[in-house]
Amino acid sequence: MYATRRYLMCPPSHFRVTYSINPWMDPGKPVDLPLALAQWEALRDRYRALGHTVELLDPVPELPDMVYAANGATVVGGRVLGARFAHPERAGEAAAHRDWYRAHGFGDVTEPAHINEGEGDFAVTASWLLAGRGFRSSPLSHGEAQEFFGRPVIGLDLVDPRYYHLDTALCVLDPEAEDVMYHPAAFSPGSRAVLARLFPDALLAEESDALALGLNAVSDGRHVFLPEAATGLFAPLRDRGYEPVPVDLTELLKGGGSVKCVTAELRS
Ligand code: ARG
Repeated sequence: MYATRRYLMCPPSHFRVTYSINPWMDPGKPVDLPLALAQWEALRDRYRALGHTVELLDPVPELPDMVYAANGATVVGGRVLGARFAHPERAGEAAAHRDWYRAHGFGDVTEPAHINEGEGDFAVTASWLLAGRGFRSSPLSHGEAQEFFGRPVIGLDLVDPRYYHLDTALCVLDPEAEDVMYHPAAFSPGSRAVLARLFPDALLAEESDALALGLNAVSDGRHVFLPEAATGLFAPLRDRGYEPVPVDLTELLKGGGSVKCVTAELRS
């Protein structure tokens, strides 16, 4: 179902790769900052052109990964479960997000007890809160999120360091229809079986598309914004009635993130 959404994004004004906390990050590789900004602005403008609201979070100079706004909190029903980052390099982002939500009228903005990297590891469908673990978010954060949101959590084990967050391996295409796409090899055998049981008709992504971070996509229920290199997903998405919107975010790929990582969804 296509409905306009409300997103939160943070411009990559201070984006750089000076440390490595995932296999995609190579501090030796230069980042073209003007290009990163232009690519990010193009995505923001595309959201707005389709009627979506894009709110903006002020970037902090000392926090180069802040552009990956999806990691800063999880918002469902207007309630905000804050993040707690696994790596000290990103720890400061959590408070910046909580401050933003408090200043913008969100209720129940909560600082979590356990490590969770927001929508990096939490994905929402009408029935479930899908929750990744293995690299970043603590398994203990799953129970915490279930209690906070009152939604059943499905814990999923990530096993490949290239897919260190759930949102690099799985994308909710339509929450109401319980329609998802994912890359099976990113998950443990048991988690694959769980996904097959819950989503028997899911779109399964090939490795080449997963490696282009094609699962790191944002869907509004009709348009699916995804990395333009994930070409193998275009036809299967069209066959299911979606409209792929290819996005060029190559500079931000150097930090290990793409479309979904830079887009937090504010679910009312
Ligand atoms: N450099 C960031 C990190 O490793 C990238 C985060 C990507 N975000 C995401 N939602 N997967 O934490």
